[in-house]
Amino acid sequence: MATTTAAPAPKVTATPGEEAVLGKAYDLELLRKLWPFVRPHRKLLVVWAMVMPITIGLELALPLLFAYALKHHILTGELDKLPLDALAYVGIIAAQGLSGLTETWFLQLAGQRTMHALRIAIFDHVLAQRAAFFDRIPVGRLMTRMTNDIESLNEMFAQGAITLLSDVVKMIAIVGVMLWMDAKLTLLVLLTMPLLAVLVEYARRLMRASFRQIRVRLAAMNAFAQEHLSGIKVVQLLGRASTAQREYDEINAGHRDAYLGQIRADAWMYALVEAIGTLAIAVVIWYAAGYRGASEAALIPTLWAFIEYINKFFVPVRDLSQKYAVMQGAMAACERIFQLLDTHEFDGGGPEAEAAGKRPARPEPRTGPGDPAIALEGVHFSYGAEPVLRGVDLKVTRGATVAIVGATGSGKSTLIKLLTRLYERDTGSIQLDGVDIRDLPMGELRRRITVVSQDVLLFAGTLGENIALGQPFERSQLDQAIRRVGLDRALTRRGADIDAKVTERGSNFSAGERQLVAFARALVRDPEILILDEATAHVDPEAEQLIERGVAELMRGRTTLVIAHRLSTIRNSDLIVVMDRGLVVEQGTHEELVARGGYYATLERTFRRADAHEA
Ligand SMILES: Nc1ncnc2c1ncn2[C@@H]1O[C@H](COP(=O)(O)OP(=O)(O)O)[C@@H](O)[C@H]1O
Ligand SMILES: [Mg+2]
Repeated sequence: MATTTAAPAPKVTATPGEEAVLGKAYDLELLRKLWPFVRPHRKLLVVWAMVMPITIGLELALPLLFAYALKHHILTGELDKLPLDALAYVGIIAAQGLSGLTETWFLQLAGQRTMHALRIAIFDHVLAQRAAFFDRIPVGRLMTRMTNDIESLNEMFAQGAITLLSDVVKMIAIVGVMLWMDAKLTLLVLLTMPLLAVLVEYARRLMRASFRQIRVRLAAMNAFAQEHLSGIKVVQLLGRASTAQREYDEINAGHRDAYLGQIRADAWMYALVEAIGTLAIAVVIWYAAGYRGASEAALIPTLWAFIEYINKFFVPVRDLSQKYAVMQGAMAACERIFQLLDTHEFDGGGPEAEAAGKRPARPEPRTGPGDPAIALEGVHFSYGAEPVLRGVDLKVTRGATVAIVGATGSGKSTLIKLLTRLYERDTGSIQLDGVDIRDLPMGELRRRITVVSQDVLLFAGTLGENIALGQPFERSQLDQAIRRVGLDRALTRRGADIDAKVTERGSNFSAGERQLVAFARALVRDPEILILDEATAHVDPEAEQLIERGVAELMRGRTTLVIAHRLSTIRNSDLIVVMDRGLVVEQGTHEELVARGGYYATLERTFRRADAHEA
């Protein structure tokens, strides 16, 4: 996993990861898993399988027709019959073209439709995973699944497995026709086969090795580029560009060399197969030289047809290793894709959620005057080995504003992630109105709680779309939200409105403006519980004044948890909860805590200094 440290650039090498795995070229288990995606298009494949032998038959008929014309019309001097032969020849070629076209069309149609379905399946699957999944699997790798790996599978349809099948059919057919024409000559030609087999096997091994290298290095290259492009500002501002260039060059050179290895193997293979093909033709001519006498002329048509067939026979052999590599790549890609599809860490899909669907009755919510809106008891949690929350207890009264303060890394944001079930607590209980959040449908939980955090992600589109985010809000509702949080003033300044264009990641909006968009998102949703996680951290004091109205508007009459770093916000809350290293160490009102002279009193002095500094 990538680390972002200030230390010297981490050495990036092509570490063989999942990409290094090379399976069999034909893995029935994998093909079986792929089948559900191919199945809806099986009729297309049936058409292909029916047309394919026709194309081959027509192609193989041409030398036969020519040999026939040679034998019966040219050598006998019946030249007036030749135009008819020519016409038949043209007819066969036209028919072959047509059937080839049909064949390719149906095969590719099946392939493209399968890829389409598979891509959707992967995307949907990934979107449904919970946050911990994305901590483990880098985005670059997921992207590779959806692009490169799908493309590898696509190649299988275009030029791999499936055409390999028609190649084999064609080669068998060629040998069949040759045997029928002249068995002895055919057997002589087949003497070159062992040589060919040795060669193909050798080339296959070479290919396999270089193929693995190419995969590994390509993956490294993608991951490296992805990481640096998404962090382009850091790369440029902190002068990482030249080191990055050097490292990229290194990985890139490795990729090039691996490719050259494959090209070398391929070129050798091509040349040697050509040589063996020529050898086979030489055998045919040598055989013909052995004939003396009357049958000599009769041999010419056969010779000619044989030379044609031998040439046709060696074309697929030449492509064989290439196709083998494609197949191997496709199977490896297929394996990685299904590995991903078999990973089930569904967001809210745990066994308890499934059981919840079958549960007879949902526990009655307790909403009496004395019951807390949110209650945490003995909550423990860790992302990995290190405990992050070590037994947190917390009660939030309905309608109250509770401030959570504490040093960076004390677990404040983690608490919020557990409350919204982005992550699952390890032990302890978390309840909303006395109902365990695990007993609430995920959709309901997230409708009732809205989090506004310091990182506001906008999507490419319009401002309105970014506030609604796919929910069916009226335009007037969106407009109202914009006005109530004070975003309209910022918009007017730049002469924009609700239809303002938002570029990718909202880069044409300032941090303060993005923050207001987040407030508008929350406001229009009108959640029961509002959580602000350092929501104004990125905003300068001037802009914060602008936002203040938006925040106040948002908090009015709502149960609010606010992770704050400004004394003014903290001071005015009904309850202040102080966290330290995963524990709640103090709670009370501002006055109580200051009077107590504990952790908060120290913290408060720091806050005051910081505020005075900014003012
Ligand atoms: N996704 C994550 N994976 C692993 N560790 C994490 C992750 N998110 C946060 N942490 C760790 O958990 C601890 C608490 O983080 P957090 O709750 O974000 O603190 P804060 O109080 O600053 O909001 C930190 O030590 C942090 O490094
Ligand atoms: Mg935080």
